[in-house]
Amino acid sequence: MNRVLRALILSAFVGVAVGATPLVDGKIEKGEYASSKSVLDGASTLYYSSDGSGGLFVALETKTLGWAGIGLGSRRMDGARIYMGFVKDQTPVFSEQLGSGHRHNPVKDKTADKSIVAQNGSQNVLEFHLPADKLPFKGKAVNYIAAFAAASDLSSYHEDNFDSGTFTLP
Ligand code: HEM
Repeated sequence: MNRVLRALILSAFVGVAVGATPLVDGKIEKGEYASSKSVLDGASTLYYSSDGSGGLFVALETKTLGWAGIGLGSRRMDGARIYMGFVKDQTPVFSEQLGSGHRHNPVKDKTADKSIVAQNGSQNVLEFHLPADKLPFKGKAVNYIAAFAAASDLSSYHEDNFDSGTFTLP
């Protein structure tokens, strides 16, 4: 195969891999998400990709056998839209919650139209999609919180394993 042909095939393949829509399947493949950020002192990686229609794909991969969560729209628990979950005895539990003070409660009006939590070895993987009209924040600078704990439930305290910040959408 000549060099030009090989380069063409390679660039087409890379284009597909980078431009592909993430799959909400509990697995994060190399190149699946357009952007990523190390959070929680390196215990987690936060991934995000626009869906091309103003919505957002988000994933959080965390080194824990217990619960992990990501909240959007605030840098504090209070007011954050929280997506959290764990897998216990092979049963996944994903929950969307609203932070209130230092507590949180499940919501009826869900924003995620696709969601999954999986345990891949020692990693908790949360993945979800938010359609454009359900985003729990405005603008391109997205405030977030993240946390995890060793317990497989939705209530155990995260102790020092919490973080907050802002990521910027393209
Ligand atoms: C599971 C039950 C939870 C309990 C009992 C809990 C409890 C608390 C408490 C007591 C604090 C204050 C800590 C301090 O001032 O030193 C705190 C802070 C914090 N938590 Fe949680 N939390 C929970 C879930 C979550 C979740 C799911 C997240 C992220 C998705 C989160 C993120 C944070 C962050 C970023 C802070 C610092 C900012 C703030 O004070 O709101 N927490 N939490």
